[in-house]
Amino acid sequence: MTPRSPEILPPDDAALARAAALLRAGGLVAFPTETVYGLGADATSDAAVAGIFAAKDRPQFNPLIVHFTDAEAAAREVVFDARAQQVARAFWPGPLTLVLPRRKDSRISLLCSAGLDSQAVRVPAHPLAHRLLAESGLPLAAPSANASGKISPTEAAHVAASLGPRVPLILDGGRCAVGLESTVLDLSSPQAAILRPGAVTAQDLTPIIGEVVEAPGNAESPENGGLKGPGMLSSHYAPGHPVRLNATDVAADEALLAFGPQVPAGAADSLNLSPAGDVTEAAAHLFAYLHRLDALAVQAIAVMPIPETGLGAAINDRLRRAAAPRG
Ligand code: TXA
Ligand code: MG
Repeated sequence: MTPRSPEILPPDDAALARAAALLRAGGLVAFPTETVYGLGADATSDAAVAGIFAAKDRPQFNPLIVHFTDAEAAAREVVFDARAQQVARAFWPGPLTLVLPRRKDSRISLLCSAGLDSQAVRVPAHPLAHRLLAESGLPLAAPSANASGKISPTEAAHVAASLGPRVPLILDGGRCAVGLESTVLDLSSPQAAILRPGAVTAQDLTPIIGEVVEAPGNAESPENGGLKGPGMLSSHYAPGHPVRLNATDVAADEALLAFGPQVPAGAADSLNLSPAGDVTEAAAHLFAYLHRLDALAVQAIAVMPIPETGLGAAINDRLRRAAAPRG
């Protein structure tokens, strides 16, 4: 017997009702957010959250983001100080995750904190995510809906390809508009710090809460261990093929991930993240194009240089992980 594949449902009322019921029963549902697809489960249930780790094959020490309908619901589980209120007012719902101290009376499973005394919380902007949170009546723990260490999914089909029958139901909301995971902002200590760059940047945050240090890599890289570096994984966002960065030329046996109007000739195949050189458009395409080039019979994926401006910093952060030595 072949393993069952996941059901991919259009986002109508019946699908939402089924998804909410499945979540209330402790099951897993993949759903779209404006950043990437998440693999959701009841954040208050140890068994349901453990199901996420099992489905993703995820190391237990990597903590999970919990999603809420609004800031008030999040503030019941974490200590929501004045800074948190200010950034939440400015950027929620949206692609920003806040790491805050857990409240002693929090109902969120300790598995979501993975041994830390902080909890990552987010209010997503995608209407389907919002409806699922409201209809289930649950805070939802949701990492990106891919097997651990692989490229994040920005389409329902990516989720099905990566997790297969380990996720029974996928709500199909089309392509994710942002295309890169949320900014992770640590507000659990006096110095605000960005642990993972994303669509909300330090320049966006500084006018609201003062100095924000950028510590990209802390959230997910092996070089930065310690309390704020729980996701100590040797490589991340890893395609199957080797990735060569800052390519200004390309070999005949390489696929080219291009950026901008001037593209070197000679690649086996190529996709352009943004022919106009727009980093926001490039971010939206990044993971989908990596998925497509990775499916080709080539020796490597060569990636043209991407400017560090705006979302470019977050794109380059993900590309460096994709190119990191595999451990
Ligand atoms: O856009 C997103 O954030 C997506 C959607 C589904 O919301 N989710 C996502 O989750 O990317 P995940 O699990 O793939 O990444 C969560 C990141 C990891 O880098 C993790 O280490 C960090 O957030 N994180 C979670 N809880 C943390 C905590 N308490 N302290 C420090 N970092 C934390
Ligand atoms: Mg992830």
